[in-house]
Amino acid sequence: MPDDRLDAWRGRIDAALAQALALPDTPPRLREAMRHAVLLGGKRMRPLLTLATGALFDAPEPPLLASGVAVELIHAYSLVHDDLPSMDDDALRRGQPTVHVAFDEATAVLAGDALQALAFDVLADARIAPDAGLALVRTLAQAAGASGMCGGQALDLDATGRSTDVDLDALERLHALKTGALIRAAVRMGAFCGNADAASLASLDDFAQALGLAFQVRDDILDVEGDTAQLGKTAGKDAAQDKATFPALIGLAASKDRLDALRARMHAVLDGFDPSRSDPLRRLASYAVSRTH
Ligand code: IPE
Ligand code: IPE
Ligand code: MG
Ligand code: MG
Ligand code: MG
Repeated sequence: MPDDRLDAWRGRIDAALAQALALPDTPPRLREAMRHAVLLGGKRMRPLLTLATGALFDAPEPPLLASGVAVELIHAYSLVHDDLPSMDDDALRRGQPTVHVAFDEATAVLAGDALQALAFDVLADARIAPDAGLALVRTLAQAAGASGMCGGQALDLDATGRSTDVDLDALERLHALKTGALIRAAVRMGAFCGNADAASLASLDDFAQALGLAFQVRDDILDVEGDTAQLGKTAGKDAAQDKATFPALIGLAASKDRLDALRARMHAVLDGFDPSRSDPLRRLASYAVSRTH
């Protein structure tokens, strides 16, 4: 996704995350586990989406950064819990031992809990009008919770070990919740920070739905085709655990065709915006479908 603006935003996102995780009054083991979960890698796709969406509307940077940091903290917590022995039981994440391996399981549970609370604390500090701030909080809460990511993770666990019972509609719903919800929220929060009109919100939501599905379909393909060193997480886990994934259900070739269709849908939406302003979003959309880790 090379682009000077994306590089500059990534630098500011990383600095803001480091600042949020200074946590001077936190018990050191919990603080180190939280920092391990967030600061040791990650593509920062969700906060980049927030900033790139905000750029369509010349949104002010402070609320965009607060929103991006908040959604990345929720994402990082979701990975800590996703990797737990009682969920996907993974030992490697972002090229590092997972939090429950580097620390212990109880600390990983608490680090995830505390990252979630910290996300809303950061959002409460977003320098934005109170009504808009509440809209940001509600958007993130709904995307993170039972009707969003947690709901999707519940569907994922329920389907694990019986992937052949899941049809394509159910799999799309599962992916839309476990991964799509936070990606949609990242885009929506960027649009809210820029006071986007209802028509732009609706077309950007169409874009974000396609991106969320594409992001997880690519993740499913990489689990089959990637290797552990390149991914920074254990390859081949989905088949080993009989996870419901796109390659398992429709095969690799059809999964890649689906990605092509999703890329076209995303680019068609972006054609409705000024090309110089929408270029970072266009790059992120292409990256989501072609990324190698
Ligand atoms: C991994 O997300 C989990 C999925 C939702 C597919 P990312 O691929 O964005 O992981 P990081 O943040 O870059 O490590
Ligand atoms: C994770 O999906 C989605 C989350 C909500 C964390 P996966 O289980 O496929 O993510 P990876 O492959 O472990 O990163
Ligand atoms: Mg999982
Ligand atoms: Mg997993
Ligand atoms: Mg995966």
